[in-house]
Amino acid sequence: MPITYKNTDDIAKMRVAGRLASELLDYLTPFVKLGMTTNQLDRLAEEHTTRVLGAVSAPLHYSPKGQYPYPKSICTSVNHQVCHGIPNDKPLKNGDIVNVDVTLIKDGWHGDCSRMFMVGHVSVAAKRLCHLTYEALWKGIMQVKEGVHLGSVGFAIQTFAQRHGLSVVREYCGHGIGRAFHEEPQILHYGQPGTLEKLESGMTITIEPMLNAGRREVREVGDGWTIVTKDRSLSAQWEHTVLVTPTGYEVLTLSAGSPPLPAFVTDFAKEYGQQHPFHTHAQHISS
Ligand code: MF3
Ligand code: CO
Ligand code: CO
Repeated sequence: MPITYKNTDDIAKMRVAGRLASELLDYLTPFVKLGMTTNQLDRLAEEHTTRVLGAVSAPLHYSPKGQYPYPKSICTSVNHQVCHGIPNDKPLKNGDIVNVDVTLIKDGWHGDCSRMFMVGHVSVAAKRLCHLTYEALWKGIMQVKEGVHLGSVGFAIQTFAQRHGLSVVREYCGHGIGRAFHEEPQILHYGQPGTLEKLESGMTITIEPMLNAGRREVREVGDGWTIVTKDRSLSAQWEHTVLVTPTGYEVLTLSAGSPPLPAFVTDFAKEYGQQHPFHTHAQHISS
């Protein structure tokens, strides 16, 4: 799918889809706990998406270029699983870290986001990985503005990750999003400032860094989807859908249950004297 530029009406619909995707994660949050299976989360997500949100699960039967159709409504990636984990009947156990990635279609438009969840008592290293990956996502988001090169977004994420001893997965990336699930351009989570395409106002993209506690190499497990770290080290991922604006960005996948923004984001906003309603639209003006 090519790059698409969204007009005012399109953006209004992307805002709704994005908020609902985030609300689906809010709904699932209390269920991501000890003893629950990821299949139970999948069924809860499917029912909530259709019956309450009046939307459609984008992952279900999704089959990009000849790939085996994805069999479930959400992705659940546990511990050393990097992304695209297929829900199953294994109960979540004490100390697990879980990424839940949801994408829904509302009124023809996609919203795509994911969060990390910690089950019971999690190791200090796992907690640190989850928190730093969340901050890395926001380091990327804060770069977003019309005219900024995509390499600058990747660079911000990569330098932050590496400074904290984490590695960046290269085989999977963020993407344009709109009427289609995956549109151009690819949003790499590593790179060099001032390289690659320039962001333009009206683009909607996802940023979804996957950071590993160990080496960056990954492999597919053989089920056609699930990606794991080669060295079996822990991996974390967070994702938002973001609108590019002339002055910065607007995060579309926020809702009442979104985790608080990192202090470096809110401090920046304060410094510029802004009073943005961060729980509906995080907007950021960067000059
Ligand atoms: N939600 C994932 C993303 O962020 C894509 C999952 S594809 C699926 O791009 F088929 F596995 F759902
Ligand atoms: Co995505
Ligand atoms: Co996603």
